Amino acid sequence: MDTQKLINTAQMLVALDKGLLAMDESNPTIKKRFAQYGIPLTEETRRSYRELIITAPELSKYISGVILFDETIRQQKKDGTPFIKVIEEAGIIPGIKVDAGAKDMAGFPKEKITEGLDGLRERLTEYSQMGARFAKWRAVIVIDKGVPSPSCIEANAHALARYAALCQEAGLVPIVEPEVLMDGEHTLEQCSEVTEQVLQTVFHQLFAQRVILEGLLLKPNMVVAGVNCPKQPTVDEVAYTTVKCLLHTVPAAVPGIMFLSGGQSSELATAHLNAMNKTFKTQAPWALAFSFARAIQQPALEIWNGEEANTTAAQKALILRAMCNQAARQGKYNDNMEKLVI
Ligand code: 13P
Repeated sequence: MDTQKLINTAQMLVALDKGLLAMDESNPTIKKRFAQYGIPLTEETRRSYRELIITAPELSKYISGVILFDETIRQQKKDGTPFIKVIEEAGIIPGIKVDAGAKDMAGFPKEKITEGLDGLRERLTEYSQMGARFAKWRAVIVIDKGVPSPSCIEANAHALARYAALCQEAGLVPIVEPEVLMDGEHTLEQCSEVTEQVLQTVFHQLFAQRVILEGLLLKPNMVVAGVNCPKQPTVDEVAYTTVKCLLHTVPAAVPGIMFLSGGQSSELATAHLNAMNKTFKTQAPWALAFSFARAIQQPALEIWNGEEANTTAAQKALILRAMCNQAARQGKYNDNMEKLVI
């Protein structure tokens, strides 16, 4: 195993206050995103939307890596140039989602277990040959009455660790994503308690599977209250509680925390990241960065609306979000940035 190569890739992904753009929606997920705006779902609409993203001018000033879906990594621009070549030539590192989705966990109503370990070694070899240098696996944890169970947390953490070990063997940096969902009425404190338990278990399993901490990136949820919780915390409370939870659980050897946005509005996700960096950037042992899908793409998708004529305007909206999130990594984001004309 080339440990130094893994460490270099992980460090490049967090360097220069950049972050990741997740554009790895599975077909059922992108169907939901397109349906919000009545955009028809065909292989061609998915292809042209992804072409819009990867050809956005100067994307690489703000984005270090993009996470692709299996269909996307094999696609080309309209002029026939492979997407992977476009991404590499822009100076962006290509990554790939490799899990097979979160499925109902047998015997545990309401809970999910992520599948995809069978044949993973061979798939990782193929993706590596195609040019991918990092991979992503998402585990899903639900908060509800009596849920999550220790068994669900344990099973998902074990799968994440086995995936991470296989990635490192193949020379790919694993993005380890245990997502505690924000659906529900739970409080900030409940989210914090569950997230802490999940991360403790994940790092225990990563250790047990001999995963090199310097050669992985963590993609956790921010610690927030459930969307239906009547008492919503302030931006500073979310920032403080999230960093405290991570300090309790994430070893200092991990190079970066790449938050998911999880359904927060674009502006709020950026504001939370900004507040964390403003107060903790110099003290935290790891980079506090981003790996957003919706919080970067949503405004662009809405403007694009499936129409080629809207491509340039949509790309500008995408770049604005990427730029705001880079500023948030520096603790320099403010509301006025939202009005910038690109
Ligand atoms: P969101 O930022 O939309 O939560 O997506 C991140 C992601 O990649 C989920 O796996």
